[in-house]
Amino acid sequence: MSLTTCTVHVTTKQERNIFISGELAKALRLSKSKQLQLQVGSQSVTLPARYIKKAGLHLYLPQSVIASIKLPRLGPCLASSGNGKEIRLGPVIGVLTNTTGTTAGPFGSRTPFIRSIMQPGERKSYHVAFSPKDVNWQQGTVSGYLLLPEGGWVRKTVPLPDVVYNRLPSRKAEKMESTEIFKQRFVKRNIPLFNWGFFDKWDVYRLLENDPVFKFVPESVLNPTAMQIKELLENHKFIYLKPTAGSLGIGIYRITYSQGRGYFVRYRRSGKNVLLRFNKFDGLVKMLGVNRGKLNNYVIQQGIRLIEIDSCPIDFRFHMTKNGNNEWVVAAIGAKKAGKGSVTTHLRNGGQLMTAEQALKQVYGGRSESILTKMKETSIELAKAIEHNYNHPLGELGFDLGIDQNEQTWMFEANAKPGRSIFKHPGLKQQDKASLANVYDHCVYLSRFRARRDS
Ligand SMILES: Nc1ncnc2c1ncn2[C@@H]1O[C@H](COP(=O)(O)OP(=O)(O)O)[C@@H](O)[C@H]1O
Ligand SMILES: [Mg+2]
Repeated sequence: MSLTTCTVHVTTKQERNIFISGELAKALRLSKSKQLQLQVGSQSVTLPARYIKKAGLHLYLPQSVIASIKLPRLGPCLASSGNGKEIRLGPVIGVLTNTTGTTAGPFGSRTPFIRSIMQPGERKSYHVAFSPKDVNWQQGTVSGYLLLPEGGWVRKTVPLPDVVYNRLPSRKAEKMESTEIFKQRFVKRNIPLFNWGFFDKWDVYRLLENDPVFKFVPESVLNPTAMQIKELLENHKFIYLKPTAGSLGIGIYRITYSQGRGYFVRYRRSGKNVLLRFNKFDGLVKMLGVNRGKLNNYVIQQGIRLIEIDSCPIDFRFHMTKNGNNEWVVAAIGAKKAGKGSVTTHLRNGGQLMTAEQALKQVYGGRSESILTKMKETSIELAKAIEHNYNHPLGELGFDLGIDQNEQTWMFEANAKPGRSIFKHPGLKQQDKASLANVYDHCVYLSRFRARRDS
């Protein structure tokens, strides 16, 4: 297996040959065979090979060949060869998402994000972003959007990708049977597709139930009855109620019981933090609509007394990625301080973003470094465990982690398609780039452009 970079040119020569510079043939350890197979994504063609005297790593193709294999563009790319008789160009990296149908902003408000995914591989690989309706399985092609060097977009038909990074944004669309069937078609063709779908909170709970990392997950119950709410409140003093398929803190309640004073419920309504008090448990049950099915698809969870700064709880977003060696790494950490009176630390609910170093130093002083190291170890353990218990490849995860007053780490939530709001912090610009570079490297790994250690 050999891997290098090369530059692809068009030749004006009419014969259907591949012209390869001597240096490229050497770098790819080509067997000097008369025929070479050229592969780009799912397309391939076998042609006579001509070795030419030219310095550098170059490949020349006639226009007719470029058109027939649907080469996404000319210029630099990675080239690999497994047996010396074939050359793979690419990889073709597919970003699965929703498209608007215009080249001006093909992904609407997510256009800058999709661009940032493509940038690390801009001069090394072929990224194409497409939606499910853009695939032609018979022809083995996708018609999607490619990023131009000047920053604009072009719609083009290219080969089916070597790997697919799933960034479909809608939970609802992702759950449809047609989407599931669509994604399975990549699996059947041996095209790895990573970040299969959104996680529900309860799915993650079940996934880890029999794993040693379960100790990091607060006790939870799905679709709780009034009795179960009471029981959990008795055992834990306060609890969280969260929609299992929720995000952004929407629909979350925090309930506290205080002897002699009753039940306190905090939540957010119309952009404001609300606090209600009930003398009796029955009043609370009525307000929550427990017996009217209002808590269907809710998870109740043991409340964790988080460490605080200025009397506001803080928690952490660990942005995990896999790298080019298929290892999990902590790509970035953001600390989030809750807004006054808010039950969550989300920035949209008045939360404040800090670096983990800043936050932990304020709480633990000189011990902050060792605490952060331990949290990082825990996050890697959690990522490995989720991957181990899940039946699809994962390349990225976002954990909401908290530390309680006894220094124990807890995981509130694992996101399979993590947002990137922590990267707004000016101190995390480098991590922002590094996390995207890791995802790109991992795509190259999954495309089998490099020799793998584990296969
Ligand atoms: N069991 C809990 N104990 C203490 N705080 C919690 C608990 N669950 C959630 N939180 C707080 O609420 C935030 C949002 O919860 P999370 O489970 O991440 O839901 P969402 O999907 O809405 O982001 C967390 O980041 C944390 O600050
Ligand atoms: Mg969250």
